[in-house]
Amino acid sequence: MATSRMAPELASHLLARMEEARRRTDALFRILVPGSLYERPIPQRNRLIFYLGHLEAFDGNLLRPALGLESSEPDLDLLFAFGIDPAEDDLPRDTPADWPTLEQAEKYNRGIRETLDQALGGSHFASPDLVDGTLLHVAIEHRLMHAETLAYLLHNLPLERKIRQATPAPDHRPAPQPRQVTIPRGMATLGQAAGAFGWDNEFKAHQAEVPEFSIDVFPITNAEYLKFVAAGGYVDSSYWTPDDWEWKSRAKLEHPHFWLRRPGVSHGSPEDRWEYRAMFGRIPLPLAWPVYVSHAEACAFCRWAGKKLPSEAQWHRAAYGAPQEGENRFPWGEAAPDRTRGNFHFESWDATPVDQHPAGASAFDVFDLLGNAWEWTSTPFEPFPGFRAFSFYPGYSANFFDGKHFVMKGGSPRTDRSMLRRSFRNWFRAHYSYVYATFRCVEE
Ligand code: AVJ
Ligand code: FE
Repeated sequence: MATSRMAPELASHLLARMEEARRRTDALFRILVPGSLYERPIPQRNRLIFYLGHLEAFDGNLLRPALGLESSEPDLDLLFAFGIDPAEDDLPRDTPADWPTLEQAEKYNRGIRETLDQALGGSHFASPDLVDGTLLHVAIEHRLMHAETLAYLLHNLPLERKIRQATPAPDHRPAPQPRQVTIPRGMATLGQAAGAFGWDNEFKAHQAEVPEFSIDVFPITNAEYLKFVAAGGYVDSSYWTPDDWEWKSRAKLEHPHFWLRRPGVSHGSPEDRWEYRAMFGRIPLPLAWPVYVSHAEACAFCRWAGKKLPSEAQWHRAAYGAPQEGENRFPWGEAAPDRTRGNFHFESWDATPVDQHPAGASAFDVFDLLGNAWEWTSTPFEPFPGFRAFSFYPGYSANFFDGKHFVMKGGSPRTDRSMLRRSFRNWFRAHYSYVYATFRCVEE
């Protein structure tokens, strides 16, 4: 079979990033108290043991064909191949006995790493997708996305099952006064340019014309959202679509999942009634942090406020557009992301105040766009014009083009900096309240 040479600088760059990504996910499993791998912290999702095997199974299933390798453990490859897209009422019913032991999973993982690393040490490959770096990008970013989705799971694990990591004292400053800024009509470029790496859903790049609108300078804080809760937001069905109301009622949701009722307090000021589910313990409700809620809850707030969620194109325009002409690579300009620009790249286990990173503001002075929380948009997750699914992973995006998933932009404290690129699109179901996702409102 004809082979081509992978550029040595590209190969060493990507293999080093793969190593770094492995260190990241390995470290995450080490915050578990031994014996916790069979826990299921989110009822709709797999037990933690699945994720331990999944990262290696994914790499093996993806890379073996391109490297001309055969699997030695096809049963485990299949068991660990696919996660669960949480269905609404059909909860998984497997038991710990349905899964391999920790020793089996670790042996499986070691075997895959050794086989892949040995084959990747070569320099001539038959697969063009391997030669141009696409497959390694996919493996690296897949692993890093799970570093984030695993953090959602660990967030919901009982405290006695995780080893507390160093965290700064929560910043309890008051929330900034909400305000809006007007964004004049202009163009927004969505998607990734041909030739650069992007997931299948980032292509093709295209432009959208965006009429004038105004948008919140800050994401909705816990303080703002508290007004909605106190005004009966969760008991008045008129703010909800029938479908969202039905979900909310069935899930018995009376407040954001990340909020907890403070025991024994039924009067006093509204904020005294709530505590917050931080990664390593309960804390007083941090008023200046972005509220983490589902798309359905975000929409209900918007209806109560007489506003809307931004579309994906509006979000782009507010984040990357400029008052004169042109568009920026990042909200703040061209400079690479660093910790002054926002709360991302595993900087923190929790949010920070929405006004803490003025150096991250966009040309229109919109704050906190990258990091701290993904932001819901009103745009259903759909293919861009000219979309073609990855041949080696046809379901990555296409399985979710069902009108029930919505585009999220931005990035959370647990988002790797590689996925802060302008074209990156995240998505979840409208009825999934466990992700680090917030929103801001627009008026047209
Ligand atoms: C892009 C974050 C929605 O977690 O479901 C991981 C990423 N796809 N393994 C998800 C993903 C397959 C995906 N999100
Ligand atoms: Fe996955």
